[in-house]
Amino acid sequence: MTDQYAVIGNPIGHTKSPLIHGLFAQETQQDMSYTAIEGSVEPQDAFAGTVHAFAAAGGKGMNVTAPFKLKAFAIADERSERAALAGAANALSFKDGRIVAENFDGVGLLRDIEVNLNLPMAGKRVLVLGAGGAVRGALLPFIAARPAELVIANRDIAKVKALAAQVAAGGPLIACGYSELEAMGRFDLVVNATSASLTGELPPVTPSVFSPTGVAYELAYGKRLTPFLRLARNAGVESVADGVGMLVEQAAAAFTWWRGVQPETRAVIERLTVSLD
Ligand code: ATR
Repeated sequence: MTDQYAVIGNPIGHTKSPLIHGLFAQETQQDMSYTAIEGSVEPQDAFAGTVHAFAAAGGKGMNVTAPFKLKAFAIADERSERAALAGAANALSFKDGRIVAENFDGVGLLRDIEVNLNLPMAGKRVLVLGAGGAVRGALLPFIAARPAELVIANRDIAKVKALAAQVAAGGPLIACGYSELEAMGRFDLVVNATSASLTGELPPVTPSVFSPTGVAYELAYGKRLTPFLRLARNAGVESVADGVGMLVEQAAAAFTWWRGVQPETRAVIERLTVSLD
């Protein structure tokens, strides 16, 4: 029987996941289907009901997107360490009546940066802007990549300090406010993981953080040259990227987890890339 998978979110109309997983399945010759489900936000337990019904009908796994990542984490029977730090799941696997929660957003981002953009993070100075769910998902994979320094800046300083305190003490992690960045020099990688670009805003980051030979990475996908990427370009950064590679790489990580085969990502990324200009 064809194995069933789905992505659940609300709204879900713009999701690329069925296309991405369809291409992966074709390439690796997997007998599976992958659909999109619009989950109900109300009542509170509607999400859990939909997931349980999907699993009970023989579903093998789900991707989870906004606004359900926290709920997906909460209903799981087992959780990976990185999902636990994020407090959120973007992928579920259904096995023997149990729900297993994973979070591949961070590893997808890391792989896009290290492999596709050719910037191995070991020994590099890395700056991450924001302290929301996206950053919580990225922290453990980033630390494991052994940057020389990992600075996380946020408007709400108490929030970013609390997040840093959750991660094991020691290591290269520094949590701070934006005003402290001026004195910190240039970074090899600057990642905008705030939600500012969704509303066309610019986080209050000084252009002095950018290195012309470094990478500026915008987590949002398909928003073209966001104010953040424009700031980076104006500061002389040549390598600017949006989150299309992360989107495809997190999907590939989930696919590998579910199916035990690793799909090729490059052609899929090229197909989904929207020019920044
Ligand atoms: P989620 O957890 O769903 O990712 P969130 O917790 O609302 O979303 O986090 C959004 C992040 O974007 C936060 O770090 C937020 O900064 P604050 O915690 O200081 O509010 C950040 N953010 C949103 N709009 C921003 C803006 N215009 N400039 C800078 N940071 C912004």
